[in-house]
Order: sequence, then C-alpha cells, then structure tokens
Amino acid sequence: MVKQEAFELEQFIDKYETEVKYNVAETCCYSMSLREIENISGNKFDFDKIANERLAYSYIQGSPGLKKAIGGLYETIGPENLVVTNGGIGANFLSFYTLVGPGDHVIVLSPIYQQLSSVPKMFGADVEIIKLNFEDGFQPNLKQLEAKMRKNTKMIVMNNPNNPTGCIFPQETVLKIVDIARKYGSYILSDEVYRPLFHSLEPADSEPKAIADLYERGISTGSMSKSFSVAGIRLGWIASRDKNVIEGSLIRRDFNMISVGVIDDIIAQYVLQNKEAIMKHNYQLCVQNLVILDDAIRRSKGKLEYVRPKAGTTAFVKVNNKDVSSTMQMCLNLAKHDNVLAVPGETFNYPGFLRIGFANRREDLINGLEKILAYLNV
Ligand SMILES: Cc1ncc(COP(=O)(O)O)c(C=O)c1O
Repeated sequence: MVKQEAFELEQFIDKYETEVKYNVAETCCYSMSLREIENISGNKFDFDKIANERLAYSYIQGSPGLKKAIGGLYETIGPENLVVTNGGIGANFLSFYTLVGPGDHVIVLSPIYQQLSSVPKMFGADVEIIKLNFEDGFQPNLKQLEAKMRKNTKMIVMNNPNNPTGCIFPQETVLKIVDIARKYGSYILSDEVYRPLFHSLEPADSEPKAIADLYERGISTGSMSKSFSVAGIRLGWIASRDKNVIEGSLIRRDFNMISVGVIDDIIAQYVLQNKEAIMKHNYQLCVQNLVILDDAIRRSKGKLEYVRPKAGTTAFVKVNNKDVSSTMQMCLNLAKHDNVLAVPGETFNYPGFLRIGFANRREDLINGLEKILAYLNV
C-alpha cells in the first residue's frame, strides 16, 4: 500500500468547520449560488439547459466550450494543452501521479498547501522543502534554490499566489526560477488556483504570468473554487504546453475520473463567461476585507504581524505574544470556546503563525478578528 501522510490542514478544518460561528479558515472567495452570480453579472443562467440535459458521461475530456473558456485564461494555451480534473486538488494529484516517482528529486517552496509536498512524497520522490521566511517577505533565495538543484531534480513546486501567505512571486522572480529549472530540464508545477486574484499589488509589483505561458515545461494548475467562487462544482485543470504532461495525465485520468461531470461543465462555462463581473466583485471583496485585517493588525500593538497579502485570499499572521506558547492550542481554544475557526501555522510546519482567510463573509472576518484580539488581551 502507498504510504500517505495525514492532511493536517484539511482534517483540522473538517473537525470544526460546521461547529463554529465565525470562519476565518475559509480560502474561497465567498462561494456564490447561481442566483447570486446572475445578480452580479446581469446575465441569466439557463436553468432549462440543466433540466433537459441527459445525465450521461457526455464529453469525456470536458466539452469544447469549456476547454475554450479555460484556455481563454491563458496566452498560449489551447484545448490540446488542457486536462480538466476534479478540482485543483485533482489537478495537483494527477500531475504528481503522472510525473514523479522513486529516484526523482522534488523541491518544494514552502509554506505551501500541504498536498503539494505530501503527494510527491507519497509517490516515492525525494522531497526537499525550502522554507521561506517571514523576514524575507516569503520570497525565495534563488542562490539557495540553485544550490539545491540536482541532476535528478524532476520538479520545482510552488504556489503563486500563495496559500497561506497571500504573497506572490513577481514576474522577474518566476523568470529566474524558470532559468534555473531549464538548466536541469526540470518541470515547474505552479499551483495557480488563486489566479487571477491580484487585488492588492503595489505599483512596483510585476504581476506574474501563468507558468504554462512562461515555460515550456511549466504546469499551471487551476480551479473554479477560489477566485471564481464555485467550489461546489469541483472543477479544476492542468494547463501545460508539454505534451508528455497532457498525454500522460489523460491516460492516468481514465482510471479515476472517466469524464468531466456534465452539470459541472455547463456551470463552469457560465461562470467563465461572466468572469469579468465575478472577478470585479471578488477584487472588491478582498480589497475591502483586507482593510479590516489591516485594522486588526494595527490594533494588536505588535502582537500580530503580517506580510500584507497582495493576492489570493489568505494572510499568514505572526503571533508575537509570550502568553501564546502554541498557535495550535490557541486555535483549538478559539474553536472550542470562542466560536472562531482559524488555521494554526503548525498545519504548515510554521508554528507561531495563524492563517486568516479574508475573502469570506465580512461578519465572519470582523467577529473572528475581534475574538482573536480579545484572546490576546488587546
Ligand atoms: C493552493 C491550493 N491548491 C488546491 C486547493 C484545492 O482546491 P480545489 O480542489 O477546490 O480547487 C486548495 C484549497 O484550499 C489550495 O489552497
């Protein structure tokens, strides 16, 4: 049997998510109903289409309309460069399943969504974690990365924009990582489920392009869950110009997915047709909610510190309080006694941090942060 680590983060969230009143552990932009998307976009969803659609396997790889709509999120990606999957989680899993195994070295830039380090390990790869630091704004030291590269480095793994930090690797950094990877013929898997949510860039920041557009061995994984607010349809994708990635993934996908769900396909097309309106709404949500987080950090008088998020939906907040010996215990107490769910940094191997999701409902964020400040006696 394949050895698998426990998914600490998802298990922690699962345990408390339905019990607490104020959820600041959520990573999706507030998930919407079709009615809400109709209101935001002003475009009607064709409910009859779903009512009349035969619930067959239908298009195995996803409909041509869906693939065209996903391809429209990239500069160089056509339908032949895409594999539609069961969420971003399916896209990451399938990429590792296709590409890595015993004898392969995989470098993971952390903190990162745990799946991205645990799954390559599970497939037998030698996984080396490079830990990025709060003090460096969670930016990689490229000399260190280069020094870690080996002849058998099959893949560099990153998450851009990043969960949990909300930081980005800007375009110039990504290009330098591409140069390093290219020298060794390594793939770069960039989990980009938080694209294109670059809501708080500063003038000096260069928005990174998708890795699939930048690098011939780049693999971008994407999703409808986070920026597009429809996690419930469970639809994601792999985008790559590398034929081996696409063909290898399609062959393997036959064994665990058969086809893209026909209803998911129809809904994803509708959502992507209305992406401008949805993104505008979600940009605003993030920008406005970040102000609430800014205020809480300021009021904490140094007990909470962050690298201000520039993109995505989460902040990785450092807890400077001698009375908090463990952020895991703090989050357990908050969940059990204060009705607040925040994610402890321990689930990312970064004790001393809290992950705060700021793109959920405003009330959750306001009340959740008040309870956290009260916990810290602020
Ligand atoms: C970085 C990252 N990748 C992938 C996923 C999986 O999401 P989904 O399968 O809903 O696309 C998550 C969910 O939190 C995530 O944060």
